[in-house]
Amino acid sequence: MRLIILDDASTVADWAAQFVLQRITQFAPGPGRHFVLGLPTGGTPLGMYRKLVQFHKEGRLSFKYVTTFNMDEYVGLPREHPESYHYYMWNEFFKHVDIDPNNSHVLDGNAPDLVAECHRFEDLIQKAGGVHLFIGGIGPDGHIAFNEPGSSLVSRTRVKTLAYDTLDANKRFFGNDMSKVPRQALTVGVGTVMDAKEVMILITGVHKSLALAKAVEEGVNHMWTVSAFQQHPQALFVCDEDATLELRVKTVKYFKSLMVEHNKLIEIKR
Ligand code: PGA
Repeated sequence: MRLIILDDASTVADWAAQFVLQRITQFAPGPGRHFVLGLPTGGTPLGMYRKLVQFHKEGRLSFKYVTTFNMDEYVGLPREHPESYHYYMWNEFFKHVDIDPNNSHVLDGNAPDLVAECHRFEDLIQKAGGVHLFIGGIGPDGHIAFNEPGSSLVSRTRVKTLAYDTLDANKRFFGNDMSKVPRQALTVGVGTVMDAKEVMILITGVHKSLALAKAVEEGVNHMWTVSAFQQHPQALFVCDEDATLELRVKTVKYFKSLMVEHNKLIEIKR
């Protein structure tokens, strides 16, 4: 596991976007050779999406041969609702870049058969040849995607009922009214994300600091589902200073001493 500690949320956004640019550029996608990217929603990745759009506008990055899979979607929220993840992805990212909408997959939380929809999504990932890079965010309770505390660490895409902490954290998007937050979501499983070749998890803010400490310094535990990534061979946690507040000084010093190495990950070799 790599832990990349940066000054603030905006530096995290820049570093993460640079990493995506590096990975896609190095892969050199083309017809019949798509780069497969797993994507999150939420407040944390917004800055990264803006930077990726900027790279695209500068002609440095094309998504023409990129296939994407989003982590999750609410159940029962209309697609055009401003808080649906379809709406978020279209407005914050897809409409600004050259991705083919047929290649950008978001779970359908209004499908008549939600279980079949989850199976369809897993099949699509398989057919795409698996995910090269899955990007995720976490909740203050350590959830990854909507894999709430207690979720199976080998889970696949399925319907989940959201935990109180998640409803509370997300009510800010629903006029601070918890009763308006959808109670259920479709989400990729921890196992689905674990299958990706590489995983990058973005963590910013003091409210995520306990979750980061649990993820990095304690054992693998289904009550902090992001801790499963200790067992992933290629996992990067990218965080800001605020998110490190619950870590040991020794942990922070060690990983900061590796920054020269970490920054080699975002160098583009020509
Ligand atoms: P946030 O959400 O980026 O809005 O904090 C992350 C999550 O709950 O997974």
